[in-house]
Amino acid sequence: MPMDTEPQLVRIAADLAEQGWSRQDLFLTPDLTLELAAECHRRAAQGDLSAAGVGRGAAQGLQAAIRGDRIQWLEPGESSACDRYLARMDALRQALNASLYLGLEDYESHFAFYPPGAFYRRHLDRFRDDDRRAVSVVLYLNPDWLPQEGGALRLHLVQQELDIDPLAGRLVVFLSAEVPHEVLPATRDRLSLAGWFRRRGDGPF
Ligand code: OGA
Ligand code: MN
Repeated sequence: MPMDTEPQLVRIAADLAEQGWSRQDLFLTPDLTLELAAECHRRAAQGDLSAAGVGRGAAQGLQAAIRGDRIQWLEPGESSACDRYLARMDALRQALNASLYLGLEDYESHFAFYPPGAFYRRHLDRFRDDDRRAVSVVLYLNPDWLPQEGGALRLHLVQQELDIDPLAGRLVVFLSAEVPHEVLPATRDRLSLAGWFRRRGDGPF
């Protein structure tokens, strides 16, 4: 680990090595978190988000029974807020590579909007035909979230089930192949940015 790596990024790498997951409650500045929340709301209001898929080629009906979020993938250069978020995630990618030798090559990320009642059943963040995803990341964008509003991310860890509320500014990181997880239904809109650090593929891509 280079000496100048920020303490928070070092902690995330250490947590992943020790327990396979990490939670950071103040990952971005509150200002940037609010800007990203506003951008997610704007995209949802403009109709830019669409029903998320499950794996590859799954039937529409099946997807709705598994997950009910609407998403939009991020591209660089769309907004200052998104670019600052992507820069921060690239710093995390480099910190993980420096300490864990994961060989993470890129990052893919999407806004996710769960309307009230929507959920995502228990799953692993790997597709049967694509095992490039190595580390999963979720940043939550919901100010003043109350536990009784539901919407927790439930991690199915070896020793326990752990529920984490989707509170604004909170970042959860976990090993994509090792931590089954699910999103519980909420009573209000639930906004987030979900992403995956990927290794180099060895398929014909
Ligand atoms: C996912 C996912 C968790 C969350 O998008 O694959 O598991 O808390 N999201 O939004
Ligand atoms: Mn997931």
